[in-house]
Amino acid sequence: MSKPLEGIKIIDFTHVQAGPACTQLLAWFGADVIKVERPGSGDVTRSQLRDIPDADALYFTMLNSNKRSLTLDTKTPEGKEVLEKLVKESDVLVENFAPGALDRMGFTWERLNELNPKLIVASVKGFSDGHHYDDLKVYENVAQCAGGAASTTGFWDGPPTVSAAALGDSNTGMHLAIGILTALIGRGQTGRGQKVAVSMQDSVINLCRVKLRDQQRLDRVGYLEEYPQYPHGEFSDVVPRGGNAGGGGQPGWVLKCKGWETDPNAYIYFTIQGHAWEPICRALGKPEWISDPNYATAQARQPHIFDIFATIEAWLADKTKYEAVDILRKFDIPCAPVLSMKEIANDPSLRASGTIVEVPHKERGTYLTVGSPIKFSGLKPEITGSPLLGEHTDEILSELGYSKDQIANLHTSRSV
Ligand code: COA
Repeated sequence: MSKPLEGIKIIDFTHVQAGPACTQLLAWFGADVIKVERPGSGDVTRSQLRDIPDADALYFTMLNSNKRSLTLDTKTPEGKEVLEKLVKESDVLVENFAPGALDRMGFTWERLNELNPKLIVASVKGFSDGHHYDDLKVYENVAQCAGGAASTTGFWDGPPTVSAAALGDSNTGMHLAIGILTALIGRGQTGRGQKVAVSMQDSVINLCRVKLRDQQRLDRVGYLEEYPQYPHGEFSDVVPRGGNAGGGGQPGWVLKCKGWETDPNAYIYFTIQGHAWEPICRALGKPEWISDPNYATAQARQPHIFDIFATIEAWLADKTKYEAVDILRKFDIPCAPVLSMKEIANDPSLRASGTIVEVPHKERGTYLTVGSPIKFSGLKPEITGSPLLGEHTDEILSELGYSKDQIANLHTSRSV
């Protein structure tokens, strides 16, 4: 099966998570992604949180599948020359260095554009260009805090809380992938490359859109009727943390199921969506609630929503989370079990769909990773193991026209 991005060559000058997540996605879809890494050490994640001594850590292997690895010291004259050759032959350069690092290396946007006017230069930074924090180095949780996610996540009586989901890192990488693909289509129209920049703060803000909606509603009316604070609690002038309340206007909560006393994940998420109220009452054996004026509308329910959740929890007490969902799904009630990572790793449906995949690795044996969450009718991304450090250095140099002797000299000078 041919892959849509076949023939697109990408210089992957990324590290840690945000950039690698972007280029990995493009590699799955057929791009030739050449990961450029510092000789000797490579991407810092190769050695971070190792579970097998001396083997690439899962942090690296799970973000760098389907790529080739070229070691290159881009601060030596010889290394710079190799990079220049690569730039001339490539379609995209992706980087997520600290602000100014690429410029200090001598590869400003102007220089790259001069070397290859068709090149798309894609960058991740913590904050956007011109922002008053644009000199900062940024990691995941910093972005979650600066992007509004932390102030709106957690419980009202606790501190701002970050999410386990990589809203700052992988999410920014996904935004960048969209930017790169857009620029590639644009290049088809104009023949020219361009600079594509995504900041981690902006990417988090983009996912916190509904919280900005809520800020404006709060400014206007002084309360937010779907938050647990309504109608008994107090609102200040900023969007509060709403615990596990549903963000889209449907009240919902995480509810205990059978076994919660010993199993930290024996819970379901239960949503009380307006149109599902009748089936909910039937499923719970409470048909009298359907027409009771204290329960019949969302507005009538809100003042005692936690009593309703308590009644549902009583109904759940003798059902496992899976049994509960199996009953509720028959009534078309939006709900799901709270799944642990162990359950996700072993879920047969996720294995069958290719979302959780096992891939071979030269040093580790087989490891588990997340495959493509995007499914196509005409493409089944095949996930291959991540490259060893410098595994493809000689191969790539010879593709660039270097002779065996020249390659040997580059090794001797420690430029590759
Ligand atoms: N050859 C020679 N030098 C190399 C190189 C190579 N192949 N690859 C990297 N370097 C150099 C860089 O040029 C830089 O040198 P300089 O500081 O002298 O200019 C140096 O290595 C360190 O790079 P830097 O990006 O500053 O790494 P760091 O470990 O200090 O910071 C981050 C890490 C992630 C905080 C930082 O890169 C950053 O803020 N990136 C943007 C936001 C981001 O992506 N955050 C991470 C999300 S997972």
